Amino acid sequence: MKILFIASECAPLAKVGGLGDVVSGLAKQLRSEGHDVRIVMPLYGQIDPKTTALKFMGPVCVHLGGRQELWAGVYEGLLDNLIPIWFLEHGEFFGRPGIYNENNREYGDNAFRFAFFSKAVLQVCKDRDFLPDVMHAHDWPGSPVAAYLKTWDRVLSPLAATATVLTIHNIGYQGVYPADVMPFLGLGKQWFVPDVCEDHGRVNFLKMGVYFADAITTVSPAHAEEILSPEGGRGLAPYLNRRRADFSGILNGADYSHWSPESDRLIPENFSIHDLSGKAECRRRLKERFGLDEDDSPVVGVVSRFVEQKGLHLAVAVLDRLLASLPFQLVVLGSGDAGLEDYFQKLPLRFPGRAGAFIGFSNELSHWITAGSDFFLVPSLYEPCGLTQIYAMRYGTLPIVRSTGGLRDTVEDYDPETRLGTGFAFDDPAPEALEAVLRRALETWNARPDRIARLMRQAMEQDFSWEKPAGEYLKVYRQAIENRRKLLEAEGVASGKPRLALNPMLESLG
Ligand code: ADP
Ligand code: GLC
Repeated sequence: MKILFIASECAPLAKVGGLGDVVSGLAKQLRSEGHDVRIVMPLYGQIDPKTTALKFMGPVCVHLGGRQELWAGVYEGLLDNLIPIWFLEHGEFFGRPGIYNENNREYGDNAFRFAFFSKAVLQVCKDRDFLPDVMHAHDWPGSPVAAYLKTWDRVLSPLAATATVLTIHNIGYQGVYPADVMPFLGLGKQWFVPDVCEDHGRVNFLKMGVYFADAITTVSPAHAEEILSPEGGRGLAPYLNRRRADFSGILNGADYSHWSPESDRLIPENFSIHDLSGKAECRRRLKERFGLDEDDSPVVGVVSRFVEQKGLHLAVAVLDRLLASLPFQLVVLGSGDAGLEDYFQKLPLRFPGRAGAFIGFSNELSHWITAGSDFFLVPSLYEPCGLTQIYAMRYGTLPIVRSTGGLRDTVEDYDPETRLGTGFAFDDPAPEALEAVLRRALETWNARPDRIARLMRQAMEQDFSWEKPAGEYLKVYRQAIENRRKLLEAEGVASGKPRLALNPMLESLG
């Protein structure tokens, strides 16, 4: 199958969170199964064409609404020496330090940046004669692609048969912007209605994708259920419910070529389920690096974006008290919300030898914490899938999670009766519930090391590799292609006699 990923992140080149990991991990799996998968993404300022050995392929002329014409450069590279990636270069839009934000402030022109990106993708495909069976758009930044393929490129286009799949990685970010981007998008006024992309007078990119894509997924079965409900859907539940027949949840996989204790090149010492001595060394080095007392107390690790979704304020409400009264240490890596940054930055000053923090983004440290901690805290208010708990389990680091979305689908709460489980879970999004689960985990650690050892083994044996989810995506791709085929058939395009000409450019020209 010919598949094009439309992505605003791709690990390790440009990554803010799990989206980047999923794009490269899924692409690699599909490629290993023989599919012609390619990725297209913006050439951000942080990607240096020289060090990443990119080849300049030429310019592309992008037509937007109002007969606007903008030019971009196209570079080509290879991800992991395997997967072709195209980079769209546009200095004004993408030649900046951040992906979506800078200094915790969202760029004011994100609607224009990603509308341009989406439109350019189609032109690159046509220019390079790569006509995918499926375009797989990820989150709101790629959503306009689905709209373009059903409007500008619906008929009489080399891409008329290309189907679109939209994956919602995070419904908390819908890309809602002032309506003045509509003329630039070049989508006719008939689409600026609540059923399609209008959202209280603004344009909602994700909603547009939900309306136009041939199939829609999110990143875990539990979260798929959640976002069909009014509380979980953040305004999109009615629209997702209309697309229910084409909507499903596929659990994310983990790229174990980067996240395995046996082969991880970023951690101080490798280890495996058969020999955990390296894990003890990872823990010792982690404690040393963060200036923690090198005693026997367990380490609770956190690697997270500091945003409300991640529920860290639940921890903040009880951490001072718990650190003062319970025998554990805390190591935190993350950045974002200024209040949380300030709290965690100052914590080691109040609890020297007991708490450590690094405010910022560091791939190396994220591996150190995942490998060297004993517990891994993910108290999210909502979590579409979550990857950090999946990685932690592989390293025998027991996740302590709130039971929501993908956390619910991946972590099994320890059951003292059966002794089964892969971590610890709590339900109520309240500091007291978090305190109770932390106490439960630490008590088990102190009183029943044999049980903890068994939980660690059970966690390490979990297999979240990409094979199974990739198979599920292929099914969704086929369904999307079939949906697209039926649509073309209904419009008489297949017979060469299109009944509809919905090209808004032609319409606006009268
Ligand atoms: P989300 O995508 O919502 O942030 P996930 O758990 O799916 O949550 O993925 C987060 C990814 O980002 C993981 O690979 C995690 O290790 C990484 N990550 C998050 N914060 C940092 C950070 N400060 N430094 C390095 N990696 C980070
Ligand atoms: C999002 C979600 C996270 C998910 C990731 C990759 O950012 O918050 O739960 O794992 O995307 O799909």
